[in-house]
Amino acid sequence: MNAKVHNDSHLSDIGRIDIEGLSIEFKSPDGGIVHALAKTDLVIEAGSFVSLIGPSGCGKSTLLNAVAGFVQAATGSIKLDGIEVNGINPDVGVVFQQYALFPWFSALGNVEFALKRFSLSKAERRDRAMAALKEVELEGRENMFPGQLSGGMRQRVALARTFVSEPKVYLMDEPFGALDAQTRIVMHDILLRVWEAHKATVLFVTHDVDEALILSDKAHIMSSGPGRIIETIEIDTERPRRVDAIDQDFITNRNRIIGLLRKPSE
Ligand SMILES: Nc1ncnc2c1ncn2[C@@H]1O[C@H](COP(=O)(O)OP(=O)(O)O)[C@@H](O)[C@H]1O
Ligand SMILES: [Mg+2]
Repeated sequence: MNAKVHNDSHLSDIGRIDIEGLSIEFKSPDGGIVHALAKTDLVIEAGSFVSLIGPSGCGKSTLLNAVAGFVQAATGSIKLDGIEVNGINPDVGVVFQQYALFPWFSALGNVEFALKRFSLSKAERRDRAMAALKEVELEGRENMFPGQLSGGMRQRVALARTFVSEPKVYLMDEPFGALDAQTRIVMHDILLRVWEAHKATVLFVTHDVDEALILSDKAHIMSSGPGRIIETIEIDTERPRRVDAIDQDFITNRNRIIGLLRKPSE
């Protein structure tokens, strides 16, 4: 077997996340408390691609939403490049499973909208949005409306809208969960290309073990009751990785993760 090569050339200086003693609670409808996330410590290296995998309800979205500043911590802290996350942060871009595009704006209009808060001229804004759409292979479709685009194309617009403002971190919550297998493969290639070109840190939530193994440097496996990380798998397989050309390491990691996911939570 070949020696493992850990290709970390994509790591960068910005976009490091330090999570310390973070726990999150919600009130349940019956007045009780849901421990959505038990005390969690996690370091996400700048420029790395990290996945969260686990069963429904184990706190994946909660953890991601906390990094986005959408939910409050019960205890602990989250820092982005040493600065505490306190409310919604423009250095962080979010892509959800649902197409959160404005239906009344074209693809171009949606991406341009993300640049509104910058003091750019109209022409500059248009140029940057067009360049972003080109990166996600939507050149020529910029004037189409979300309702006229396929699911994969809409998620490409959502991705372009996220990276066009150059956030340090992309938070992606099952972004390809509603897409068919072939479209997902295309999305993976596009996402990896964008990630490498823009040197962002990616925190990616998925149910799909193969998706995590194809994309990430590390996969954190989560369990529920209370939500927590039960194991971290380092994925050293060289890129580009392909589902139709998997090696022994891939199979070992896949078996390990599936075994962990099968364990009933106590
Ligand atoms: N806003 C909320 N209010 C009450 N409970 C919530 C809220 N958001 C999430 N939860 C609960 O927290 C737990 C974790 O949810 P979530 O992070 O959405 O899980 P996942 O994304 O892994 O499916 C679940 O038990 C869920 O019902
Ligand atoms: Mg979720």
